[in-house]
Amino acid sequence: MDSLEARHDLKNDSTRMLNPLDPEEFRRQGHMIIDFLADYYKSIEKYPVQSQVEPGYLSTRLPDSAPLEPEPIETIMQDVENHIIPGITHWQSPNYFAYFPASASIAGFLGEMVSTGFNVVGFNWVSSPAATELESIVMDWFGKMLQLPTSFLFLGGGGGVLQGTTCEAILCTLIAARDQVLNRVGRESIVKLVIYGSDQAHSALQKAAQIAGIKPENFRAIPTTKDNAFGLSPDLLESAILSDLVVGLIPLFLCATVGTTSSTTVDPVGLLSNVAKRYGVWVHIDAALAGSACICPEFRHFIDGIEGANSFSLNAHKWFFTNLDCCCLWVKDPNALIKALSTNPEYLRNKATESNQVVDYKDWQVQLSRRFRAMKLWLVLRSYGVVNLQNLIRSHVDMAKHFEGLVGMDKRFEVVVARNFAMVCFRVSPSAVGDCLKSCDEKIVNEFNRDLLVSINGTGRVYMTHGVLGGVYVIRFSVDDSSIASVS
Ligand SMILES: Cc1ncc(COP(=O)(O)O)c(C=O)c1O
Repeated sequence: MDSLEARHDLKNDSTRMLNPLDPEEFRRQGHMIIDFLADYYKSIEKYPVQSQVEPGYLSTRLPDSAPLEPEPIETIMQDVENHIIPGITHWQSPNYFAYFPASASIAGFLGEMVSTGFNVVGFNWVSSPAATELESIVMDWFGKMLQLPTSFLFLGGGGGVLQGTTCEAILCTLIAARDQVLNRVGRESIVKLVIYGSDQAHSALQKAAQIAGIKPENFRAIPTTKDNAFGLSPDLLESAILSDLVVGLIPLFLCATVGTTSSTTVDPVGLLSNVAKRYGVWVHIDAALAGSACICPEFRHFIDGIEGANSFSLNAHKWFFTNLDCCCLWVKDPNALIKALSTNPEYLRNKATESNQVVDYKDWQVQLSRRFRAMKLWLVLRSYGVVNLQNLIRSHVDMAKHFEGLVGMDKRFEVVVARNFAMVCFRVSPSAVGDCLKSCDEKIVNEFNRDLLVSINGTGRVYMTHGVLGGVYVIRFSVDDSSIASVS
């Protein structure tokens, strides 16, 4: 190679280095990462499902400061293998049965890739019309699959938005409800607003209440019992509302859950909505995990009565094969959200917005900048199709049913609460603990089950997590969706 050629190559190399989006380098490194992940998925079972590292492990392995000079991707990926993977809990492992499924799929992954590739910041329609329009279209598609009343769809005057998480969805709807009421009764009445949910409602509700400025003592976590499978009683809700009215408080917001975190209990959506409506309370349905199952006709009854609610959300990144993050929120009255969340700075003014012909999703959420999440949901819906998605969900429910049957056949174990979807809450029964430890005391039974779970997870062969229901420690076996790859 003569010196001129060498200098030319050197120049190409440094141009690549300086161009963070050099197409050929992107192709080379991108293929390498896809190969890395395909090998990871193929061999995922060789790793302990729950990471076994101790706190602070990583700082002992990595340098104290960032490198001054560039490092090749090959070296970085070697460190991923050696240092990062040991600290990963493998949510995509077929032996992962903890918390909830974190749906990943080829379509969800590729959709995320395309969206990240475009890397548009779609805060309003004009900033990337396709991002907004595709989102409105997929939200109506998905809403129809769930047989939501048309009042929740764009075609019926409502509409859907993709947010990051359920925490955000509950916060936004609560703020919409809060402002609707405060605009009527005066801002100073914020101290009188009351929020309702069951003691099984996710902590997302409490967090939203804190952020929205609701007084902590005006947060009602209505007790549930085993007798009604830990569901929220409409009678208790009504009593709580009446007691608050008597002392001059203002009932504001009810969050009913379809598929509670600890036990996938379903609150009676229709009956609760009827109560809430009588007192002008906004009803949000949090179906973060289980809502996806309602695309199957045999599970749709779990959201019967939803026409009485104001808003409904589910996490497609939990049980709908869409990689994190993707929370779907539908509202009947988008204007309530918009009034509470919109701003209109000069630098974002444009003709499309002023025409009132477009959706500007920045006004439906906390963030201004927003990702093109609709791309991955669109890929999921198109790549698998409604029939396959229904069958995948059914297959998970069948696996959970099978596990429940195995537990039922073994006298040492018991199912603690009826299974609704793809999660089984079970424990070693008090009588079996009694045989072993000569005591059936509930505290001892709980400790026995806690120790058992710790030792099972310590093997690294499976990973499950726990819940406490009415004082009873239960092991949650939540079927995950890593069988996606084998579905055609
Ligand atoms: C019923 C329910 N609601 C809300 C959440 C919180 O979801 P996110 O992490 O998307 O805010 C969860 C998560 O486990 C959940 O199970």
